[in-house]
Amino acid sequence: MTIKSRIRTIPHYPHQGIMFRDITTLLKDSVGLRATVQELAHRYKDMKIDKVVGIESRGFIVGTPLAYELGLGFVPIRKRGKLPAETVGRDYQLEYGSDRIEIHVDAIRTGDRVLLVDDLIATGGTAEAAVGLIEDMGGEVVECAFVIDLPDIGGRARLEKLGQKVFALCEFEGD
Ligand code: PRP
Ligand code: MG
Repeated sequence: MTIKSRIRTIPHYPHQGIMFRDITTLLKDSVGLRATVQELAHRYKDMKIDKVVGIESRGFIVGTPLAYELGLGFVPIRKRGKLPAETVGRDYQLEYGSDRIEIHVDAIRTGDRVLLVDDLIATGGTAEAAVGLIEDMGGEVVECAFVIDLPDIGGRARLEKLGQKVFALCEFEGD
């Protein structure tokens, strides 16, 4: 419970009926932050990962210290228009409308074994688009790692149906 108990729930944010899982209370806690990074580093240290890829913006907070701890480089996937060099992008659906994420074309090399990191998986739409980008560039996604899984929303099942492995440090169900 080191990690889950440090995540704060804000009812009805940003909309009525949504239980927002707030990791800022985990991150500000020295024990919580260390446990988050160390638990993931322990899981992945012997999996022959080449690069850690994190999704803007909360995926950066977890992915960068994890890459550092694993002795690896970090690659950002950013929201549209933020990366300065040549990119490839994918659109994905949001609750209302759609968005686009992008990655530099030279960020991943063919055959790279990639760990994809984000703070949370809900519908899985963001992660699915990110997996697509990594695979477009010839990378192999070894696993998709999250701090929080919301299994009721179905993102994990969606990624698993695509043949992806999914890991989360904790789950929040049934609200
Ligand atoms: C949130 C969260 C994940 C994504 C999960 O990010 O950090 O990245 O949504 O949702 P999904 O599984 O339904 O795609 P958000 O786009 O709100 O932006 P942020 O990380 O910049 O806060
Ligand atoms: Mg996010």
